[in-house]
Amino acid sequence: MSGVRLGVVGATGQVGTVMRAILSERRVPIDEIRFFASARSAGSTLEFRGTAVVVEDLATADPRGLDVALFSIGADNARTWAPRFASAGVVVIDNSAAFRLEADVPLVVADVNPHALRSVPRNIIANPNCTTMVAAGALATLHRLAGLERVIASTYQAASGAGRAGVRELADELARPGLEGLTFDGRAVDFGAPRVFPAPLAANVVPLAGSLVGDETTEERKFVDESRKILELPTLRVAATCVRVPVFTGHAVSVVAQCREPVDLALLRRELSHAPGLRVVDLPTPQEAAGRDEVLVGRVRATDVVDHGVAFFVVGDNLRKGAALNAVQLAELVTGVRSAPTS
Ligand SMILES: NC(=O)c1ccc[n+]([C@@H]2O[C@H](COP(=O)([O-])OP(=O)(O)OC[C@H]3O[C@@H](n4cnc5c(N)ncnc54)[C@H](OP(=O)(O)O)[C@@H]3O)[C@@H](O)[C@H]2O)c1
Repeated sequence: MSGVRLGVVGATGQVGTVMRAILSERRVPIDEIRFFASARSAGSTLEFRGTAVVVEDLATADPRGLDVALFSIGADNARTWAPRFASAGVVVIDNSAAFRLEADVPLVVADVNPHALRSVPRNIIANPNCTTMVAAGALATLHRLAGLERVIASTYQAASGAGRAGVRELADELARPGLEGLTFDGRAVDFGAPRVFPAPLAANVVPLAGSLVGDETTEERKFVDESRKILELPTLRVAATCVRVPVFTGHAVSVVAQCREPVDLALLRRELSHAPGLRVVDLPTPQEAAGRDEVLVGRVRATDVVDHGVAFFVVGDNLRKGAALNAVQLAELVTGVRSAPTS
């Protein structure tokens, strides 16, 4: 195949917008591109490589003829539409949680477990959760070196992980006057009732990302289950606390890991610096990570709180590696097209 016939489903959204940018940046060879969204956006145009592409209404579009479709329309919509595309012969790469844990759907981080793409029986591939994806490369590297036994993760998740509405809510809250008044009184600013997050996010941290199911949140469950599936360690002991922070983009994870064997920290830093998609830095922050392809890892150190313990901090752009970039990399892997990365 010289180029791919590609659909972007949810092309008008945050992730879809980043996908379109990444497809251009990486100069993915494309023979045909089609954009899909809801009836709200149908008929509008989106620029792609100098051409105006008309957005199609997903509900009435015929997907036949596409090789691959990158889906970013949430789980409920994906459950409806992904099987229809798949049965029309289109390989679906879905960004939602709809299919991630199904045994016959590979859940793949392109630089960690690409071998899982050997079999795609339902024509559906799942792109992991954005927070899990950010930590997966460093965890896989540590596992290869010393054998992972236990992972304790605390996440610091950005507002854009909750879609455009999350970004808007944070920006509106940050624009309120008198934020300094919060120094002495947490009620000094009236943020109004939050719609997207369970509490005001500006100048705050909110220890509830996703929704509660029993005592844990959906985000926490995803981190546990998806890490186990990607790392092929079904009994790995994982604890996650997922926290939303007033950051626009860049999900961070603080990890404490227990290993089977003692860890040579110098070797670990070297292995991390050679791992594809990772960059070792002194101070990994969301602002450094936003807009970059690499996941930043740093603050690597020993801890004696667990046997053979290692702690590190990792941060990645949740819209790029956490969603759009990995989806594009998976499309490249399944179609065998060769891109020419610019970065
Ligand atoms: N944000 C992240 O960090 C992140 C990371 C990983 C995965 N994801 C996944 O990607 C999905 C999209 O995230 P986002 O941040 O891009 O959200 P977003 O900015 O709110 O965009 C949602 C997209 O879905 C489309 N859409 C919504 N309902 C639809 C329907 N009934 N039929 C067809 N298209 C429909 C929207 O089209 P209109 O413009 O026409 O409304 C828009 O293109 C999430 O739900 C999640 O499953 C997000």
